[in-house]
Amino acid sequence: MKINNLEIKIFKDKAELYKEAANEVLEVIKKEKKPIISFATGGTPKPLYELLIKYYQQKIADFSNLTSFNLDEYLGVSEDNINSYSYYMYNNLFNHININPKNINLIKGDAKNIKREIKRYQKLLKKNKRHLQILGIGSDGHIAFNEPGTDPNLGVHIIKLDQQTINDNARFFDNDIEKVPKEAITMGISDILYSDRIILIATGKNKAAPILQMIRGSVNNLLPASHLRNHDNVCIYLDSEASNSLKL
Ligand code: F6R
Repeated sequence: MKINNLEIKIFKDKAELYKEAANEVLEVIKKEKKPIISFATGGTPKPLYELLIKYYQQKIADFSNLTSFNLDEYLGVSEDNINSYSYYMYNNLFNHININPKNINLIKGDAKNIKREIKRYQKLLKKNKRHLQILGIGSDGHIAFNEPGTDPNLGVHIIKLDQQTINDNARFFDNDIEKVPKEAITMGISDILYSDRIILIATGKNKAAPILQMIRGSVNNLLPASHLRNHDNVCIYLDSEASNSLKL
């Protein structure tokens, strides 16, 4: 089903949702000689990464030619910090598949010269158009860490996290809001849109409100994910809870 330029897929069974999302990745790595995929972190894509690891172990998937990017990183957080998104990616995916470490591109959150780090990453993003971008969505409608109000034309930039995002992410920091980093470096919306295909996965009732606004509301900066409607090859993967408010 297509609504406002977004293809929508609703799954009663979450396992099916992740299987189909994993198939998107498989298709790209099979079809492209030098596949380029940009990954998200957080709770949502974890089951997808588990499947990809399983497919690698079963020799169904070969990641040797893959070049990876990631959406974002906490500012000031080093890659060996267990809460960094670098650590997350190695721990939840890269350490368990045959991606060439040379082809892993991550933002260095604790770079001495952040401006230079942003420029470096931006240049790489421009040179390497993604075949597939995997996204989650924040309960405030953010994609990557483009919080409500962000200029969609911005490239890679530093952002102050919204209180809602800090509250949501406290679950990864012993439920202690004080421990959650307050700033991040993120791809811009324009960088996210620079991909042949984009899939956004949303599960759980916490995501029903931003999903409704993204799909049915207007395209506007207060709901960053709504800018996905300006891309012609976006698919939204929803479980029943996240799709509940759409009343389809
Ligand atoms: C993560 C990212 C974020 C998350 C979003 C949802 O790299 O860019 O936009 O996708 O905050 O997080 P979860 O999946 O934990 O609900």
